[in-house]
Amino acid sequence: MSIIKSESLNKQFRVYKRGEGLKGYLKSFISREYEEVHAVKDLDLEIEKGEMIGYIGSNGAGKSTTVKMLTGILEPSSGEIEVDGRIPSKQRKENAMNIGVVFGQKTQLWWDLPVRESFKLLKEIYEVEDEEYEQRIDEFDEVLQLSDFWEQPVRKLSLGQKMRCELAAAFLHHPKIVYLDEPTIGLDVAVKERIREFIKKMNREKQITVMLTTHDIGDIEDLCERVVVLDEGKKIYDGELDHLVNRFSSRRIIFDLKDSKKFELSLEGIKEVEKDGRHVEIVFDREKITASEIMREVLNSYEILDFEIKEPDVEKVVKYIYNEGL
Ligand SMILES: Nc1ncnc2c1ncn2[C@@H]1O[C@H](COP(=O)(O)OP(=O)(O)O)[C@@H](O)[C@H]1O
Ligand SMILES: [Mg+2]
Repeated sequence: MSIIKSESLNKQFRVYKRGEGLKGYLKSFISREYEEVHAVKDLDLEIEKGEMIGYIGSNGAGKSTTVKMLTGILEPSSGEIEVDGRIPSKQRKENAMNIGVVFGQKTQLWWDLPVRESFKLLKEIYEVEDEEYEQRIDEFDEVLQLSDFWEQPVRKLSLGQKMRCELAAAFLHHPKIVYLDEPTIGLDVAVKERIREFIKKMNREKQITVMLTTHDIGDIEDLCERVVVLDEGKKIYDGELDHLVNRFSSRRIIFDLKDSKKFELSLEGIKEVEKDGRHVEIVFDREKITASEIMREVLNSYEILDFEIKEPDVEKVVKYIYNEGL
């Protein structure tokens, strides 16, 4: 049975139009003209316990709106949601005890309190036992290195330090599900690494289900086997990350030839041939031609000194989806 399930889920926002100037402003009270923004469209989603899925799509695709509905912050316009047997918007409190959330740049910590006190409060809210609390903080500290700034007020933390705290806070009560909405935005590589390691550890060791929204392809490559791609509110892909990469990205093969001056290759499925000194780089569509077919062809006419086949670049795939849709 799925731990997260949505069926024909929709969210529409009404955005009231405001006319220009004072006259328009006053008029908007009378006529109430509005536009409808259909942020999430007929979304069917099933996530199994212990899964870690990447939820991706361009800006405004409806990712955060989905997460807000799943956490119970927003009520759906229509459709069903069930999270661990509960309806989030109707059972907000029970649902909240069961989940952890990180929303990109918003904080769930207390701005003026030292980190230590913030965590004490969370401990009380989520009713974590003393012994477990100590143990978890120690364990979190190992990966996230919280003790570096344990006594500092939250407002004094750098973005990276704050994010490490947010992550720890989201997992403190060992919830069944954690939603992470852009948890690595604006962070440097070293902090990203720590955060990824932490998420991986929590998912593996505690079987915590993770739904991860991110623009960082490294996050997805590192953490998620399954991705769901959203475009203008609609689910356009749901499956293995590898499969997506295979479908949408070209491969490259690079030859080092003894003589590349007169190199020519025209075969079905060859998209680009670039020459640079002795190197020849061939971009090909792997649905139409294989690397070994190209090898054979090149071997027939040229002397190959060396060659290299480049794996598809996931970043390009997601950029492509972000830019073009599917
Ligand atoms: N509270 C709101 N009121 C009106 N429109 C909203 C609101 N929240 C989101 N939207 C609109 O819904 C669409 C989806 O937004 P969002 O879920 O934040 O996208 P994403 O997180 O994928 O970037 C966007 O067009 C956005 O402008
Ligand atoms: Mg968002």
